[in-house]
Amino acid sequence: MFYSISMPDSKFYNDIPIIDVLPLSEGYRENSASKEIGNACRDIGFFYVINHGIPIDHQITVLRDSSDFFKSSLEQKNLISTKNHSFYSGYVPFHGEKTKGKLDYHEAFDMIKESPLNHLGVVARHPARGPNQWPYWMKTFKGTMLKNWNLMEQLGNNITKGIFLSLGLEEQLMKDYMGDPISMQRILYYPKSFKEEQGIGAHRDYGFVTMVMQDREGLEVKTRDDSWIKVKQMPNSFIVNIGWMVQTWTNDLYLATEHRVLIQENDRISVVFFIGPSPYINISPLESCCSQENPPKYKSYNYGDYVKRKMKESYVND
Ligand code: OGA
Ligand code: NI
Repeated sequence: MFYSISMPDSKFYNDIPIIDVLPLSEGYRENSASKEIGNACRDIGFFYVINHGIPIDHQITVLRDSSDFFKSSLEQKNLISTKNHSFYSGYVPFHGEKTKGKLDYHEAFDMIKESPLNHLGVVARHPARGPNQWPYWMKTFKGTMLKNWNLMEQLGNNITKGIFLSLGLEEQLMKDYMGDPISMQRILYYPKSFKEEQGIGAHRDYGFVTMVMQDREGLEVKTRDDSWIKVKQMPNSFIVNIGWMVQTWTNDLYLATEHRVLIQENDRISVVFFIGPSPYINISPLESCCSQENPPKYKSYNYGDYVKRKMKESYVND
């Protein structure tokens, strides 16, 4: 499943920092990982995480079940179209999304935090909670993806903690912002193609933190000097980036870096986990990131409204 096996020999791999996140699994205390995360967020907005606690055999199972899902017939996949769902859960077909007005060439399976209809959050209409649409014709898919959700959520919470610590913020603030987040898990399939297609056009993510598992390279990141660099495949690592919410919240101290996915000569699968803050939170630049010389650059906005608007813009609705 993991095709490229050349290993990096330093704390960077093709200019992207590699961070050992094990220290973040302990209490709420500054540590080497939180410092390195702060540096990475200021410099490039992307980093690899290692020592993340997600077993390799589980990663392989996730990629295998993902690949099996996309091999289902279009008729079956369409039975669980995201168009049947009030938020974003289910199947998204080729050219079902666009970036900056141009169609993207991938299929996807989207999932929100699985919760029964009588769950308080569902009753209170939290947008990213509810029962998901599952490919009921597959035996292991649901179990694998729910397990992946739990593991990725735990890793995401640790990385989130690293970001809060790197900004010198209190644990309580993290609980207030991230208590009931808008999290989503997406599986993306980018088949090989020889036509001119964009896998995903250049964009910034919306939320707090994004974690990507890829089975081969294809993701590219825009550096400060406007050149594109490849995010190489590093076995047993996840690629992490921060979203626009963090850039606005830190008054541009931390960068929500543009990235894109190119279509290549080989099929590619990525499994992406997004964590946003709670939809009820209003985002405005942190006082500690502003000064007289550096006044707030952004007006306050509600995160839930923002994310709903952005997602509506990116899905093709015909
Ligand atoms: C995204 C994204 C990257 C990938 O879904 O926002 O950037 O590798 N995905 O699929
Ligand atoms: Ni993205």
